[in-house]
Amino acid sequence: MNLEKKLIEVLNQAKEVFHKVESSQDLQDKKAEYLGKKGVLSTYLSDMKDLPVEEKPKFGQAINDIKNQINGFFEDAKTRIEKAAVMKKLSLEAIDVTLPGKEIRLGSKHLLSQVIEELEDIFVGLGYTVKEGPEVELDLYNFEMLNLPKSHPARDMQDSFYITEELLLRTHTSPVQVRTLLENIDKLPIKIICPGKVYRRDDDDLTHSHQFTQIEALVVDHHASLSDLKGTLLTIARKMFGEDRQIRLRPSYFPFTEPSVEVDVSCHKCNGVGCSMCKGSGWIEILGAGMVNNAVLEAAGYDSNVYQGYALGAGIERIAILKYGIDDIRALYTNDLRFNRQFK
Ligand code: PHE
Repeated sequence: MNLEKKLIEVLNQAKEVFHKVESSQDLQDKKAEYLGKKGVLSTYLSDMKDLPVEEKPKFGQAINDIKNQINGFFEDAKTRIEKAAVMKKLSLEAIDVTLPGKEIRLGSKHLLSQVIEELEDIFVGLGYTVKEGPEVELDLYNFEMLNLPKSHPARDMQDSFYITEELLLRTHTSPVQVRTLLENIDKLPIKIICPGKVYRRDDDDLTHSHQFTQIEALVVDHHASLSDLKGTLLTIARKMFGEDRQIRLRPSYFPFTEPSVEVDVSCHKCNGVGCSMCKGSGWIEILGAGMVNNAVLEAAGYDSNVYQGYALGAGIERIAILKYGIDDIRALYTNDLRFNRQFK
């Protein structure tokens, strides 16, 4: 009886011990302590030999019973510890979806590309198609066929970077006029624009750059008059600088156009009153244009009695500078992101 009481005590103690166990190492130690070969129950089992024969089965049964119960405590504790370990791991690996994410910066188009696309949209809306030409160009197309023979003094204003005597970095987008004329003699009317980079030998400063961007427009048809050109210029000026703009044409000179004009637009900053932007005049020069010179048409194989055309060439940087109030042309090439991001 005394023995049985002791066993009950062992059982209660084990219950408490396994309930408190927290680590799996501890759990294994306690298992050995109670259920192992040299554990508490084994000692009681060896005490059995001193009992009277008739009590042995009953006592053996009791020990077995207690062993099963303690095993149950062990299994419960094991499940509890494993569960706690999983929970701990889960909480350590958990992702806090409410934390702010890493900022992904979206790029954007460079201001020059934006202005080119804006102009392309306007011209395409007027029925023009976009053409491209090479930046390394023949002297023949860049100058000669544009009525600028080798000895022409106007070449001085467009000195270039020569690769050979006959090959240079184009000084304007006008050679695309020649290329288009040569390609399309059977496919009139011609109505193209050509945006692209051009190069001139120049000293870089606030307003000059040895590389810049132009957009050229060329129309050739049976009838293509100066008033068509004027209407086109007014449309472009208004779409780019506001619906209230006026334009003014001043006589000018380009070897490849005759007559030639310099196009001014009424100042979008002061509305033509006079301010620092337009240097007090109320007008800002934006581009050069004119009727395609007969010599240019004839050189490309067009009968100038049958065909006529007009052309214009504008500096993209100049338009960007005027429209966005930029004070240094070089800011458009130095790729300072603080500058570029202002035009997102
Ligand atoms: N090619 C001229 C320049 O770069 C601009 C221009 C183009 C003028 C077409 C008239 C007609 O200065």
